[in-house]
This record gives sequence, structure tokens and C-alpha cells, in this order.
Amino acid sequence: MGRLVHHHDPRLVRPARLRLRARARAPAVPHAAPAGRGGAGDARPPAEAVTISACRDDLAASCAEAWRLIAAGVEAVRAPFHTPTIATVDAEGRPRLRTVVLRGCAPQARRIRFHTDIRSAKSGELARDPRIAVHFYDPGLKVQVQLAGTAEIAGADGAGQEAWDSARLGSRACYAVEPGPGSPIAAGGAYGMPKDAAGILAGVVHFAAITVTADRLEWLLLDDAGHRRAVFDWTGTGWDGRWLVP
Ligand SMILES: Cc1cc2nc3c(=O)[nH]c(=O)nc-3n(C[C@H](O)[C@H](O)[C@H](O)COP(=O)(O)O)c2cc1C
Repeated sequence: MGRLVHHHDPRLVRPARLRLRARARAPAVPHAAPAGRGGAGDARPPAEAVTISACRDDLAASCAEAWRLIAAGVEAVRAPFHTPTIATVDAEGRPRLRTVVLRGCAPQARRIRFHTDIRSAKSGELARDPRIAVHFYDPGLKVQVQLAGTAEIAGADGAGQEAWDSARLGSRACYAVEPGPGSPIAAGGAYGMPKDAAGILAGVVHFAAITVTADRLEWLLLDDAGHRRAVFDWTGTGWDGRWLVP
């Protein structure tokens, strides 16, 4: 029998302690927040005295630590958890993978959020089949977290409005690209980006906030003292966790 980690388990909200390392600059990509812009995103959370191995033999703490790392990745633009890989299935049943920027996380609700263009392949794939997997890996911490769950797509005219309103103007610009993402073009640069704020804001019709609600979380910690792997299934009231052979 697995151990039930209750939804309101205080360890799910109490920050665990980690030794965190300095990070290389994030690459400049259209969706990513620019490195060096100052503020909370510039640095990892403050280093603390104990290492991640404090939770290595504690199922509940491992689950809590996974969610804490994901939540911290929203603001920490240089953290590897800021740019997870998401997997969908295309119309022919083939797996599709791509990087996205993590925009939101609500551990208690088991939710994460990212933004995309409604014209993108991933958006169409999720509209047809909302099952999604999300992969995070931090090579400094040697922690891999995988989520499996269901995606909901919301436009700026609905539940995605707050996400659109809070996005920086530079981040909004990519939703006004013409033709739409994935369109074949005659040359690499044969696409148009908006030149002014009005053009950027016109892209609102293409904006999609995608919320993923996880029903499974898998944790893998690589540790010289012995790797640890655990899987957690959402029961409706808590996370039911059990250890697996790494
Ligand atoms: C670091 C990085 C961050 C990215 N962030 C996003 C993002 O938040 N949303 C998005 O739609 N695409 C993002 N992309 C681009 C996607 O990885 C992908 O190439 C694009 O969205 C087209 O994917 P699709 O055709 O499978 O829908 C990002 C790429 C990189 C390298």
C-alpha cells in the first residue's frame, strides 16, 4: 500500500531546504523572460543550510519538494524548472515534445500554467486530446519531476484574461506573428512581427493560457548515496505515493 500524502499536509506548503547553485544565463528566446532584467527572477531562491537529501527517504517530503521546485521555477528565470518540456500526442498518435516557459503554479490545486498561440500544433493537439505530460530536470540538483494530467485551454476573452493582462508587452508580441506558428514560409525570415503596441495587442485573439491539472507526479533524485524514485497518484483527497526502483 502506498502512503497517502494529504492535500493539506503542511509539508506541501512548508518550503523544504535546498543547496542551490548559480545558474548560467537563460537563452534569449521569444517566449522566455530576458535574463538580467532585475528582480526576483534573476536569482534562485536563497541558499539554505541543508541539502535536498533531507527529503530523500521521506515520500511526503519528496512530493512536497517536487511542487516547491516547480512553484519556484515560475519566477526563477534561470532555473531549469522555468522551462519544462511538454508532451502531447498528434492526430496520428505520434508523441510530440517541446519546451515552454512555466508561467504559473498552484501546488494545492495541482496546477501549472503555460502560454501559447492558439494556432500552434500543441494547442490543436490538446484541444483534440487534453492528456499531457510535463518534464522538468535540474542537472544541478539532479532532480527530475514528471507530471501527467489534463490540459484546459483558455483564451484572453475567458479564463485566460488575467494571464494576458499580466504578461509583459514583449511576451505578448509573439502572439501577433503572421502567418501563424508552424506555417511553411519561403525563407527563414519570411514572417512578420508587430511594429507597435497596437499591433502587439491585436495578437490577443491568438493568446491561449493552458492550465494543466496533474493526477500523477513522478520524482527521481540522483544521489551518490543511492538514487530515489517515487510515484504519486492523486486519489481525490491526497497524493498516494510509493517508492519505485530507480
Ligand atoms: C526556452 C524556450 C521557451 C519556449 N517557450 C514557449 C512557450 O512558453 N510557449 C510556446 O508556445 N512555445 C514556446 N517555445 C517554443 C516551443 O518550444 C515550440 O518550438 C513552438 O511553440 C512550436 O511548438 P508546436 O508546433 O509543437 O506547437 C519555447 C522554446 C524555447 C526554446
